[in-house]
Amino acid sequence: MSTALKTPEVHAADAYDVQKIRQDFPVLHQMAHGKPLVYLDNAATAQKPQAVINAIVDYYQHDNSNVHRGVHLLSERATQAYEKARETVQHFLNAAHSSEIVFVRGTTEAINLVAQTYGRKNVGKGDEVLITAMEHHSNIVPWQMLCEEKGATLRVAPINDRGELLLDEFEKLLGPKTKLVAIPHLSNALGTIVPVREITRLAHQHNIPVLVDGAQAAPRMKVDVQELDADFYAISSHKLYGPTGIGVLYGKAKLLEAMPPYQGGGDMIASVTFEKTVYNKIPYKFEAGTPDIAGVIGLGAAIEYLERLGLDKIEQHEHELLAYATEKVTAIPGVTVIGTAQNKAGVLSFVMDGMHPHDIGTILDHEGIAVRTGHHCAQPVMQRYNIPATARASFGLYNTKEEVDALVAGIKRVSEVLA
Ligand SMILES: Cc1ncc(COP(=O)(O)O)c(C=O)c1O
Repeated sequence: MSTALKTPEVHAADAYDVQKIRQDFPVLHQMAHGKPLVYLDNAATAQKPQAVINAIVDYYQHDNSNVHRGVHLLSERATQAYEKARETVQHFLNAAHSSEIVFVRGTTEAINLVAQTYGRKNVGKGDEVLITAMEHHSNIVPWQMLCEEKGATLRVAPINDRGELLLDEFEKLLGPKTKLVAIPHLSNALGTIVPVREITRLAHQHNIPVLVDGAQAAPRMKVDVQELDADFYAISSHKLYGPTGIGVLYGKAKLLEAMPPYQGGGDMIASVTFEKTVYNKIPYKFEAGTPDIAGVIGLGAAIEYLERLGLDKIEQHEHELLAYATEKVTAIPGVTVIGTAQNKAGVLSFVMDGMHPHDIGTILDHEGIAVRTGHHCAQPVMQRYNIPATARASFGLYNTKEEVDALVAGIKRVSEVLA
């Protein structure tokens, strides 16, 4: 592939130099309402490094063509870049084969794909699907739709007040009727890290496959699907510093092979007559139609960027930020942190006495600080804590302690304004 746009030096010094890393992200260098932008909404979507932006522009400027179809040079280059990105994802997740990497629109589509293919084939009347009380809506609604269609039941494993899964209760809910377990790796509303390996071990004792919603974990920690023994693992590129509209479903080959296709159309077939269609091999069986080629290439560039920085360093950096922020925010009178699990990452959700989170978000915005307020697509989590919403600061690889200080000053300002 041509590289007319020079990918800037990645600022991955041995030590984690966050100021240098910030230079890779053009969007961060702007004012918001006259204040330097403090972007703390990374759990919603993360900003893109120049290397990702360049990879997408390069593709459209030099290689734009359809994949798997043409014998001409551009199509060959596009196909090569697309399939190279699949291998990049394979290594990133430590999947055993690149055929286990299916490109989809994002975590939501990955989960819907499994519900509509594996689920419709294997879940029947009277069966159960088991999830947890800390799911994002995208790991609830597709299972509800499936259960409704099939006459099956959605079971929910409870959490304690800290936001930790009650493993004993979870285990009690596993049984002969359970046909699938679906869990988050990291809760977007609470920040809880879920003990996935323990859960797959318990579920596999009953031969139940486990789908892991990795939307929030993949940007924040090293994920090894083989070590986790996850049967399915779903990720979104846009939370991983890549483009929107693209994501990945990892599935164990033997499961993907046995599943019916998700959508019909071009590319997912080996041969078609009016009488019969023979489906393509995996992963193409699940990639009907022209895919988001630029998105896949951008995702590949994002993963390469993360790997150059080092997932272990990113994890350590965010861990320090979260610990620092938790200590400072907890000390502010009237503030309660929602989600205090022992094992947490990335996310600091909080409420303030007598103040609606929406007002907190608006005042912080005027200070140049972007946080998320609302139910975070996790209404049952809000119900569990008997609150309508929270304000949520979520950290990314480029955030700094100074930005945490700005957040803390902003929250104090909220107290003054609304007092
Ligand atoms: C835990 C979790 N799961 C799933 C999703 C859905 O991701 P997407 O909207 O990229 O499909 C999100 C997005 O916020 C999330 O945080």
